[in-house]
Amino acid sequence: MNCLGIGTGSAPVHLDEEWHNIGCAGRLFLQTIGRPNNQGLLMSPSKAETRQPARLVDRIVHALGPWGMFLKGFVKHPVMVGSIIPSSDTLINHMLSRVDWDKVDLFVEYGPGVGTFCRPVLERLRGDAALIAIDTNPDFIDYLKRDIADSRFHPVLGSASDVEEIIRAHGFEHADQILSGLPFSTLPVGVGPAIAAATHRALRPGGTFLVYQFRKRARDFLEPHFEQIEDGFEWWNAPPCYLFWATRTTSDAEAQA
Ligand SMILES: C[S@@+](CC[C@H](N)C(=O)[O-])C[C@H]1O[C@@H](n2cnc3c(N)ncnc32)[C@H](O)[C@@H]1O
Repeated sequence: MNCLGIGTGSAPVHLDEEWHNIGCAGRLFLQTIGRPNNQGLLMSPSKAETRQPARLVDRIVHALGPWGMFLKGFVKHPVMVGSIIPSSDTLINHMLSRVDWDKVDLFVEYGPGVGTFCRPVLERLRGDAALIAIDTNPDFIDYLKRDIADSRFHPVLGSASDVEEIIRAHGFEHADQILSGLPFSTLPVGVGPAIAAATHRALRPGGTFLVYQFRKRARDFLEPHFEQIEDGFEWWNAPPCYLFWATRTTSDAEAQA
């Protein structure tokens, strides 16, 4: 998905127009299914708001395609989704640029949302490798199951903190690469550290945890576990974001054994 266009990005679309569509759709969603209060929880819609037919939401979701699904996910679970717009193509290419695809048997993604990264990962993945995508939002997982038909692709409803059990259930001991689009800094207390620890255990020595985040604080979750962390920054994303590549070194693995 492109920051400047919907879907494959082949048809150029004006960014202003997209923002306008998203703004209108957002307002209609909020009127129809409720609005987040300052704790990020949904409040019941008012009587006037409930007069909006539920069918309208479906029509908007359908018209906006993956963007509509993503926006719906954000409106329902703002704290868990953490962003109103999927990642840009530039961010995706930057994040995946360091992966040695010949050495990837298992790629895991946390928080795939509507699959913005899943498709580019599948394009690069070997024919005999696998992609497991784990998300806590059942709407996103159902959408991915319907939308991506690829025998290498395994969308799983669950939490990233259960990554070890999930990869074992798919017949793997370790993952080669794990990618995270999770909003680490807004997750409930304790969840971010638990995910970072489980990810370190789930990676093979030499395997990398790829993290993109709007806040630099994501590094704080990685440092207790990963000795080797490289970072980058991507302006061409809304909003611009930090990138981290944290590798499980052999000495990390020995220290853990
Ligand atoms: C910012 S969105 C990322 C969307 C997508 N990866 C992209 O690049 O456009 C964060 C996603 O993380 C999911 N999520 C939040 N907590 C999670 C957890 N503990 N385990 C797995 N997924 C989680 C949300 O449901 C949401 O789909």
